[in-house]
Amino acid sequence: MEKQRSSFSGSIGFVLAAAGSAVGLGNIWRFPYLAAEGGGGLFLFIYIGLALTFGFTLLMSEVAIGRKTKQSCLTAYKHINKNWGWLGGLASVIPFIILPYYCVIGGWVMKYALSFIIGQGVDAAGDSFFTGFITGNSEPIIYTVVFLLLTTVVVFRGVNKGIEAMSKILMPILFVLIIGISVYSLTISGGEDYGNRTGMDGFWYYVIPNADGMGFSDVLKVIMSAMGQLFYSISVAMGIMVTYGSYFKDKDNLIKSVNQIEIFDTIVAFLAGVMIIPAVYVFLGPENMAKGPGLMFVAMPKIFARMGAAGTSLGIIFFLMVLFAALTSSISLMEAVVSGMVDKGVTRKKSTLVEGGVAIVIAVVVCLGYNVLYFDLTLPNGQVGQILDILDYLSNNILMPVLAIGTCILVGWIAKPKAIIDEATKNGERFFRRHLYTVMVRFVAPVLLCILLLGSFGVFG
Ligand code: PHE
Repeated sequence: MEKQRSSFSGSIGFVLAAAGSAVGLGNIWRFPYLAAEGGGGLFLFIYIGLALTFGFTLLMSEVAIGRKTKQSCLTAYKHINKNWGWLGGLASVIPFIILPYYCVIGGWVMKYALSFIIGQGVDAAGDSFFTGFITGNSEPIIYTVVFLLLTTVVVFRGVNKGIEAMSKILMPILFVLIIGISVYSLTISGGEDYGNRTGMDGFWYYVIPNADGMGFSDVLKVIMSAMGQLFYSISVAMGIMVTYGSYFKDKDNLIKSVNQIEIFDTIVAFLAGVMIIPAVYVFLGPENMAKGPGLMFVAMPKIFARMGAAGTSLGIIFFLMVLFAALTSSISLMEAVVSGMVDKGVTRKKSTLVEGGVAIVIAVVVCLGYNVLYFDLTLPNGQVGQILDILDYLSNNILMPVLAIGTCILVGWIAKPKAIIDEATKNGERFFRRHLYTVMVRFVAPVLLCILLLGSFGVFG
């Protein structure tokens, strides 16, 4: 007898779980510095424009594929067209690769949260704290394993009791915390030591479009970086949204839910900037705005240390919030892999334990990449990296764009956009952007994705 497929209890459960996946380290740590680098408001403007068109198209396609086929990413594509089943293999490999290293970073966040909680936040502001920690022998491994175990427990408990229940608790808390720190950030004033800069100055720096000295090619670069960020941020092309879509009830409004996920994800990314940029602006100065990836683990602790007494509490809240964001994302990664095995008839318990075990082994290797297995490798996009960066490059820069291009071709030309539109409007829902959707999925999105992929190979320098 066939077992009934799990589903989210309603659209709120689905939206929170999907938003939990979408809101992750990318929103909090990457979005703000890309915005600062990309001319503030200019980046924001481009990003929102792309979210409403490009992002919407990709997200909508994946959720609809999931709901239409009622299959996880591994087998869904095959049900759309039997020659395109290989996309399912690709869609399962991607979260399989990302999960271990994402948990390593989750482990780092946990270490920082704990340091602030036990009152050692000041140490975290030290120059060699971050490098000292990640190159350590056992500590990073322990944190990584704990983070992975937490993820495993939630996925083990299943779609309703695990993923949905967890998202319904963590996402509202995350939202309240991020609003709280953002408001605080706007009220900072640095005093004389910091050139009398204020949080509000930093806020204007963040939102006012600034294209000074930018040529056409610089603006193109901003468009590319907004597109890459959006693509990563809404969690498409990693099998997750297809899988979550397969748990979305037939009677619920798919178009509305997709819009809500995007709105939630974009608001959190925007607020992360409101929270971080004014603080960096005041305490580190405008010349240090575009600090790159070191922002979260190196610059933020320094800022908290300079804030005095309030810094410790803010550090705790900040890193807890990042921890929640990372946890709901890693849960979605593991679910995408596990659900494929479940659809093949393996029990959820067994699938979760197997995937959890394999992920731990790979994650330990990733940790050792900063220790006994250390080496430097220059990637095709010019970045120098270790094992973590190689896995990140392979999944994000190569496999994900390939999967997304494949999905656009499958939907746009093989199954035809009507299949997705019909799925989304099957309860008589209105779909205002249907023509836009069709043009996007057939022509614009694949072209943009090809440009993104070429960029990964360093074609644009
Ligand atoms: N969308 C996430 C973010 O913006 C990225 C992500 C999600 C990565 C899920 C892995 C798994 O951070």
